[in-house]
Amino acid sequence: MITASVPKVDLSKFPRRALLEGPTPIQHLPRLSAHLGGVNVFVKREDLNGLGGGGNKLRKLEFLIGEALAVGADTIITVGARQSNHARLTAAAAARVGLKCELVLTRAVPRFDADYLDNGNILLDDLFAARVHDLPGSANSLQFAEERANELRAQGRNVYVCPLGGSSAIGCLGYADCAAEIMAQSSAADLSFDRIVVPNGSSGMHAGLVAGFVALGLDPSFVTGFTVYGNAEQAYSITLDKANQTARLIDPNLRVNGNAISINEGQLGPGYGIPTDSMRAAVRLLASTEGLLLDPVYSGKAFAGLVESATSRKYLAGQNILFVMTGGLPGLFAYRSEF
Ligand SMILES: Cc1ncc(COP(=O)(O)O)c(C=O)c1O
Repeated sequence: MITASVPKVDLSKFPRRALLEGPTPIQHLPRLSAHLGGVNVFVKREDLNGLGGGGNKLRKLEFLIGEALAVGADTIITVGARQSNHARLTAAAAARVGLKCELVLTRAVPRFDADYLDNGNILLDDLFAARVHDLPGSANSLQFAEERANELRAQGRNVYVCPLGGSSAIGCLGYADCAAEIMAQSSAADLSFDRIVVPNGSSGMHAGLVAGFVALGLDPSFVTGFTVYGNAEQAYSITLDKANQTARLIDPNLRVNGNAISINEGQLGPGYGIPTDSMRAAVRLLASTEGLLLDPVYSGKAFAGLVESATSRKYLAGQNILFVMTGGLPGLFAYRSEF
């Protein structure tokens, strides 16, 4: 079990633009816990940050938008898949602070029905007045974004390019901060967590949490990331690299060891954005026992991993497991035919 007395990570030297409502609640799920044979499941409600439909990316965007404003940007460009939650929240945050926004979205996920192509996040991108560049699945979106940024710079614009998932070290600071928030909340509630479960996509949330726990002097290996994007080996090395970059940004003396990163690829299925039976079952289970909504691409697969770990007795009755609920509700509408 992990406990901490003084949870504090000093991020005051980094530019930051407030986009959150305050700490997100940690809630116990009694009906789901009973269903899982007495494993105590808690959720950290990152979906409750309200801007733009909510979700985990807002924590990263506080620092990314902060940096963009600090360098005088008037435009932000980011990249992702067509149903990217990160892209949608970048567009919403840009609208909030008065930046122009362009989204370079690829058709990397092999889904071509009208819901996937036009509903969910992509509908909201349009409402937030983002300009969308629609690229084929094979395109190099970051290269396109850099070229587009140079084109706009030649017209006198000041452009900030934000990487996939907002997962630069600057973006990951948002989740280093969240690590401290979790420790503050758990010590105030006299609660300790045996495991924290997160979806791992572009790896920034997992990496940021790990960097935050290292900065707090804690062993971060109690965070398990269920990869939904690359295989375990890829997710491991990207997460370790980003965790180290983030930790060094906080304090040049900090180091993240290889054994700090725990990745499980058991829920990836055929690949990124491709539904699995266990994801569908997990979305239905949490909705029908607790009235809470997961998304089909990230949190649904990670929650399926939590359920599998409880039913196969990797997590035991009486243990406290914290699931980071990351939002992504619009994705359910894009994947309507799967339910
Ligand atoms: C709803 C949701 N959950 C989890 C993640 C994964 O976060 P990360 O990309 O930092 O690994 C994402 C990323 O897009 C997301 O949109």
